[in-house]
Amino acid sequence: MSSILITNIAELHTVDAEARVLRGAALVLEGERIAWIGDAAAAPAADTAYDAGGRAALPGWVDSHTHLVFAGDRTAEFEARMAGQAYAAGGIATTVAATREAGDYDLTRLLLGRAAEAARGGTTYLETKTGYGLDVEEEARHARIASTVADEVTYLGAHLVPAGADPEEYTDLVCGEMLERVRPYVRWADVFCERGAFTAEQSRRVLQACREAGLGLRVHGNQLGPGPGVRLAAEFGAASVDHVNYVEDADVEALAGTWSGWDAGSRSGSPGTVATCLPACDLSTRQPLAPGRRLLDAGVEIALASNCNPGTSYTSSMAFCVTTAVLQMGLSVAEAVRAATFGGALALRRHVGEDADGKRAVGSLAVGHRADVQLLNAPSPTHLAYRPGMPLTGAVWRQGVAVSR
Ligand code: NIG
Repeated sequence: MSSILITNIAELHTVDAEARVLRGAALVLEGERIAWIGDAAAAPAADTAYDAGGRAALPGWVDSHTHLVFAGDRTAEFEARMAGQAYAAGGIATTVAATREAGDYDLTRLLLGRAAEAARGGTTYLETKTGYGLDVEEEARHARIASTVADEVTYLGAHLVPAGADPEEYTDLVCGEMLERVRPYVRWADVFCERGAFTAEQSRRVLQACREAGLGLRVHGNQLGPGPGVRLAAEFGAASVDHVNYVEDADVEALAGTWSGWDAGSRSGSPGTVATCLPACDLSTRQPLAPGRRLLDAGVEIALASNCNPGTSYTSSMAFCVTTAVLQMGLSVAEAVRAATFGGALALRRHVGEDADGKRAVGSLAVGHRADVQLLNAPSPTHLAYRPGMPLTGAVWRQGVAVSR
């Protein structure tokens, strides 16, 4: 197993429980794990050495919410939106039609290209969803293809009721045959609980069936207006509720309540429902930015994710999300970086490692964790907000393998 010593790091942000910022640091990656972290002067020998040149090191981004299995183009819809038209869930159908037309080879090639683009931007752990298939064969095909590329796959058959289908019958299908067919490829299930998509009762049925099938739960909630999504996610003990743009006091209280068994200091106990904020989507759809500051202050753990998809957020730039969270959502740089790394890991329940499927922890730098590291082309992560839009992603290692350097 080969090892690499990354040395001459100006600031190494561990984003672990101690939230250490080590100056003049080094770290050793051995195979797919982090083997050593500490003062550069005390670093052990390794097979090769890499001079970070006085740059900052962070965990790779953990993008816990994307929709990357798609074909087709929605530029016209975006242009119409910028001209004043509101976003509506029905736009999903355009992508469903284009994606059903694409063969396995093309769909896989498109997905690989998007995953590679995300990795070059510093994303080292990636979730993606189905949801542009919306019939049994297509959802199963998209889940299978996604499972060959992404770290985590989520079943989102409950993304939209296809045109002409009866909503109750379609919900039965999502909870029955479609679920059975996607089950071998997915770890999570999601439902778009929103006016124009799935009602509270339909969402409840989906969550119940998917939980019984052994899947972890996530919810798209309160994206386009106030609604039951956030409270449903809390009631079902979902790992995350995503979007959270329109939250009322009762929603915040419900989410905060899910964190009563969690010790944020030691990061131990039983984690609650992470509120996943998607600032790139909020800007592209001209929705109010998710209230990350308010949620944090209420004791809710938050994640930042790109929501990369062709309709509402065609970017996988986690750095852009961090920048926006600092400049426009009232988060400190440390809070935003934590939400885009550890927060995503928590939302995917990968904040601790070596669980049933033997995977390593991601989203923080500590011995034994997955060797997912990025160097910024800057001496500190403050530059992500101080120099918005600049190409600050430097070298990236994913599972110990250099993606760019
Ligand atoms: O997370 N909200 C639902 N799903 C996506 C949008 C998908 C689309 O419009 O194609 C989202 O924003």
